Amino acid sequence: MEAFSSKNLFASLLILFAFSIIFCPAQATKKPYQEASTQFIRTSCSTTTYPKLCFHSLSKHASFIQTNRLLLTGTSLNVTLSSAKSTSVLMSTLAKSQGLKPREIAAMKDCVEELRDSVDELRKSIDEMSHLGNSNFDLTMNDVQTWVSAALTDESTCTDGIQETKGNVKTTVRGRIVKVAQLTSNALALINQLASFHG
Ligand SMILES: *[C@@H]1O[C@H](CO)[C@@H](O)[C@H](O)[C@H]1NC(C)=O
Repeated sequence: MEAFSSKNLFASLLILFAFSIIFCPAQATKKPYQEASTQFIRTSCSTTTYPKLCFHSLSKHASFIQTNRLLLTGTSLNVTLSSAKSTSVLMSTLAKSQGLKPREIAAMKDCVEELRDSVDELRKSIDEMSHLGNSNFDLTMNDVQTWVSAALTDESTCTDGIQETKGNVKTTVRGRIVKVAQLTSNALALINQLASFHG
């Protein structure tokens, strides 16, 4: 009886295994547009300064982006904005924590302001992008480029300020800020791509 059930189990596993072999490749080819989108994102990201981060942050939105350059660019701005917002919240919380050196407090406070500006600028650029259909393309893209460049400058100023501090704040916060700046730099590269493909 026992021998029978273990044989049974073995047979079931074998069948399951066979099924997984048969159906897995089928699943991978099930959504060809998803594959096209993933490839599109990889190619577009390859010309940015941080291609791995670019691909990693956008490929999870592949089914939304498809192979649409406008959606790709808009998504990269939205992802950047959301990262800038959460980092800004983290910084304002940390700036109020006990035991910071005066130098650290000053750097954190500057950063909170710079990030607030950067969030505003990213919001404005996203808003501009949404009007792209019914306004002058070149003028609108020019505005978007200006806002996103300004956001990048603000983030870099913050990074530089943090870089000059010593201690816990630097180790906690630096990586986060750097990531926001890298996402912004990538978004700017995709914006430039969008502008050049149109022209
Ligand atoms: C970006 O976010 C805005 C505001 O939430 C939204 O209206 C827009 O559709 C988003 N764009 C993309 C491309 O996801």
